[in-house]
Amino acid sequence: MAGNNHDAAIFGNAIVTRFTPGLLQGRTAFIAGGSSGINLGIAEGLARAGARIAVSSRSADRVAAAVADLRAQGFVATGSAADVRDFDAVAAAMAQVADQWGALDIVVSGAAGNFLAAAKDLSANGFKTVVDIDLLGTFNVFRASYPLLRRPGAALIAITAGQAVHPQPNQIHACAAKAGVNMVTRCLALEWAGEGIRVNAISPGPIENTEGMRRLTPTAEAEAAFKALIPLRCYGAKRDIADLAVYLSSEAARYITGAIFDCDGGMGLLGGGAYDFNG
Ligand code: HXC
Ligand code: NAP
Repeated sequence: MAGNNHDAAIFGNAIVTRFTPGLLQGRTAFIAGGSSGINLGIAEGLARAGARIAVSSRSADRVAAAVADLRAQGFVATGSAADVRDFDAVAAAMAQVADQWGALDIVVSGAAGNFLAAAKDLSANGFKTVVDIDLLGTFNVFRASYPLLRRPGAALIAITAGQAVHPQPNQIHACAAKAGVNMVTRCLALEWAGEGIRVNAISPGPIENTEGMRRLTPTAEAEAAFKALIPLRCYGAKRDIADLAVYLSSEAARYITGAIFDCDGGMGLLGGGAYDFNG
């Protein structure tokens, strides 16, 4: 079954009509790691629903390009460079946004690093680097946002991965880091629920045209072999993750906190051994 035909058969054109425009009108969203890929897709989705967007990542050039892209689509957007491993830099970037637009309504923690490496060949610094970006970074982003959040009503969203619960060869660093991200999500949900702050996570499956999948399935053969295993038989689109983020940010999700949502074409049903990522 060809991926694209199956894609169209399942999803058709419904994608354009999923949400009421203006659902998030007047909200301010900060997206860490928002200069590319899935996270930029989330920024676009939140913007389409009416939110003002602030993106940040390490590279000032990539942030500027993302802001220009969002503005060219008619959205209200700003951005600044910050490494999520640097708490003070993240806090300063958020303070700038809050000064400009007021309390933060939506905070997305999506910065991540990944590469394929066998544990026996991975240096301590290689392991630490990914844990620092994904796990410490998620703590930093949410912790730095805490004094600036809308109360009640703020929605925090971590971007995790199936690797958090399904062990994978050659990804011990990312698996351990994302497992920690899941627990940060659930602990903060519990601690901050009393203040009307919801904390959830999205666990994307394989998403087309992303750096993540370029790194995990770098050849056409690897991609085809991987795709054949996915229960829905196709990669997801950035829009699929964006729409879930819009939902979790909206009033429709007001009673949901501490939840981790798979958006993965059924991939998680198969467990970690389904595909052998070769380093
Ligand atoms: C083995 C590697 C390596 C590799 C880096 N290292 N790449 N080890 N194989 N391919 C080691 C280095 O040798 C070094 O250890 C340590 O990691 C730090 O490397 P730096 O290059 O100094 O790190 P830094 O500049 O901070 O860059 C971080 C990075 C890089 C993660 C290494 O790839 C990056 O910037 N990635 C961001 C983009 C990205 O990864 N996107 C995909 C995310 S998607 P030594 O010991 O030599 O000092 C994703 C999707 C799948 O995560 C979901 C799964 C969870
Ligand atoms: P991507 O395009 O590489 O996105 C990663 C973003 O994080 C980039 O904007 C990058 O920009 C930023 N970033 C990296 N390190 C950072 C740091 N230390 N501080 C601040 N920002 C940093 O990758 P993607 O594939 O779209 O992945 C996005 C998210 O989805 C990640 O959390 C990933 O784990 C998750 N995910 C992806 C897939 C997939 O199919 N792709 C599957 C499951 C989960 P700079 O380089 O400018 O810093």
